[in-house]
Amino acid sequence: MNTKLVKFIKEVQFNSPFRRYFFPRFIYNFTAPQLCFLCQCIEDTKHLEGAIAEIGCFDGSTTVFLNKYMDAQNIQKNYYALDTFSGFVAEDTEREVIDRGKTAGLFTRDSGFEVNKKKWFDRTMQQNNIARVHSIEADVNKYDLTTLGPLSFVLLDVDLYRPMKKALPELYQVLSPNGIIVVDDCDSEHIRWDGSAQAYKEFMIERDQSPQIIHSKLGILKKDA
Ligand SMILES: C[S@@+](CC[C@H](N)C(=O)[O-])C[C@H]1O[C@@H](n2cnc3c(N)ncnc32)[C@H](O)[C@@H]1O
Repeated sequence: MNTKLVKFIKEVQFNSPFRRYFFPRFIYNFTAPQLCFLCQCIEDTKHLEGAIAEIGCFDGSTTVFLNKYMDAQNIQKNYYALDTFSGFVAEDTEREVIDRGKTAGLFTRDSGFEVNKKKWFDRTMQQNNIARVHSIEADVNKYDLTTLGPLSFVLLDVDLYRPMKKALPELYQVLSPNGIIVVDDCDSEHIRWDGSAQAYKEFMIERDQSPQIIHSKLGILKKDA
């Protein structure tokens, strides 16, 4: 296409109400330093036995970023991406209200995560020439996460107490020695997602370890050799 035509199309996009979709924007659920840290975890665990898992992958933006890092570093590992691909499950949000004293209204408004489909996620991987990602449509509460093992690095990002509490021991069980689990949303101040922080801290206390929360919200769990 010639430059004049491309510029004309860009100008039309610029003047449209959909401008934000056509021009660069930051689309990640993590800050730049947090993304760098996740890459460093992949780097530090690349020599360990096992695959990588992202539990709660939403639309795949972080999945693409981390897989592009793996491509650039020639890290050949399977990458499991698990999600309901339809947002939170009712039992999880009910537990936040009934057991953890949240107001029901906090979860009646959409989180945005329900606007998703596994086929959209898979196509996003294809469009980015990523072949190593295996997507799994499942509820964490009903899926045996130990079947994903062995795992060298895990990003656990399902936000609420019930699935976090279920996932942590299963993932830790199949984590390779020296492997790392990063638990997102461990900032207790975030009222909607503070179940993550609670599940993470309980898990660490059960194991006689001090919680280690870095980059404002990333809970770190390492397995000794
Ligand atoms: C914060 S988003 C994940 C963001 C993603 N890791 C990223 O960086 O772009 C949380 C995801 O957890 C998923 N989720 C929440 N509860 C779940 C459950 N019980 N089982 C599976 N997925 C769940 C939601 O569907 C949502 O897509």
